Amino acid sequence: MKILFASSEATPLIKTGGLADVAGSLPTALNHIGQDCRLILPGYPDVLEKAENLTKLATLEIAGEKSPVHLLKGSSGPHKVPLYVVDAPHRFKRPGNPYLSPEGVNWPDNAERFSLFCHAVAELATNRIEHDWVPDVVHANDWQTGLIAPLLSMEKKRPATLFTIHNLAYQGLYDQATFQRLGLPDHLWSYHHLEFHGQLSFIKGGIALSDRVNTVSPSYATEIKTAEFGYGLEGLLNHRKDHFTGVLNGIDYHAWDPLTDKHIYTPFSVERFSEKRKNKLALQREYGLPEDEHIQLLGYIGRLVDQKGVDLILQILPGIMDAGVQMVMLGSGNKDLEHALEKISNRYHSRVGVYIGYDESLSHRIEAGCDCFLMPSRFEPCGLNQMYSLRYGTVPIVRRTGGLADTVVDVNPSTLANGSATGFVFENADASSLWGAVEHAINFYRRSSTDWEILARTGMQQDFSWEASAQHYLELYQTAMDEPGL
Ligand code: ADP
Ligand code: GLC
Repeated sequence: MKILFASSEATPLIKTGGLADVAGSLPTALNHIGQDCRLILPGYPDVLEKAENLTKLATLEIAGEKSPVHLLKGSSGPHKVPLYVVDAPHRFKRPGNPYLSPEGVNWPDNAERFSLFCHAVAELATNRIEHDWVPDVVHANDWQTGLIAPLLSMEKKRPATLFTIHNLAYQGLYDQATFQRLGLPDHLWSYHHLEFHGQLSFIKGGIALSDRVNTVSPSYATEIKTAEFGYGLEGLLNHRKDHFTGVLNGIDYHAWDPLTDKHIYTPFSVERFSEKRKNKLALQREYGLPEDEHIQLLGYIGRLVDQKGVDLILQILPGIMDAGVQMVMLGSGNKDLEHALEKISNRYHSRVGVYIGYDESLSHRIEAGCDCFLMPSRFEPCGLNQMYSLRYGTVPIVRRTGGLADTVVDVNPSTLANGSATGFVFENADASSLWGAVEHAINFYRRSSTDWEILARTGMQQDFSWEASAQHYLELYQTAMDEPGL
């Protein structure tokens, strides 16, 4: 099957969050099971620099764009995933990240930038350029690709479409003047298409006009059909329920393998679990904390945004400190949260280590060196770090929501008895509920190192590789082709 995978970020070329991990690994998994999956990305500086063998394929005429847009072809990453790049320097050649300026502000022309990207994908997908490759399916991801399905829906002959929601909190909402400026056909300004309470909604386009829609865990698929998590789109998602499913993300077992990971201090595995402690001592050293393998070490990695519940961690940190436990954190985002974390690490410098910034290599060492990983998310479509933690024998402490609920089995008498327990799960997004789980983890750790090791090793033996999920996606593509959803 020929699949065109459209994303606004993908490892190892450009990453701000989990979408990049998925776009970097699912195409490879699909190619490993005999498919022809190709990736298409906007031409940010990092992409142009890190992609291999880029050559110019075509010049595109995109309505409303006066400057040239070129389509390049090359490959991405160690598995040489075939790659198309939409090279439009006036829109994508900028510092900062794919969405924000270096000052952390949304680029004012994000609607134009991603509309251009969607148009370019549609050009390639409908064979309007001279090229011998036309996809059977276009797999679009998140709001930045939300206009692809609407554009393709107007074609007589078009590939099947799948739209994946990685995070419904980001929707690509703009005013009506923007809709007009983008030159989209008038009929798309309707309740059934792109109009959402008087605004242009990119994500609604993907949900309303794709043959199939999915999100990245079964639990989140259920949650976003309710008003609590649906941001007003729950009605549409319910309307599309026969064509809407949840498919749990996998993780890249080559990039995240404690036995071969080049970023960590000492390799380890289920069989060589005792080596993990060397990673802990080295991580304590790296963060300037007292080196002691008997002190329990908790970790956090992630975007510092409301979704992740970092404020809840801040509320219970004094309690964690009083219990004589250490904590290391890595993240960037909301400036208030960044300052609050820096303040608390100055206050408890012998117990808390904070690194504000983005550091891929350090994130591997945190997963390898910690005993526990905190993820008190208010909502979490899938979440990857809890799966990386499980693979690295780092016991996750998570809130029962979205993909966290689908991947971590709570420690309780029955799961301990049947050997399925892998982590500590709590119910409510508040500090006392989180503290209950952390306290449970602290007591469990102190009670018996043997039981703790059994728990950590059970997590390491779970299978979160892409094989099963890639197969699911293949089935979704096939049904989208056989039974169009529109
Ligand atoms: P989300 O996509 O909502 O940010 P996920 O758990 O799906 O959450 O994925 C986040 C990814 O980004 C993980 O691979 C995580 O390790 C990485 N990440 C987030 N913040 C940082 C950071 N400051 N430094 C390094 N990696 C980070
Ligand atoms: C989003 C979600 C996260 C998910 C990731 C990859 O950014 O916030 O939960 O794991 O996408 O699907």
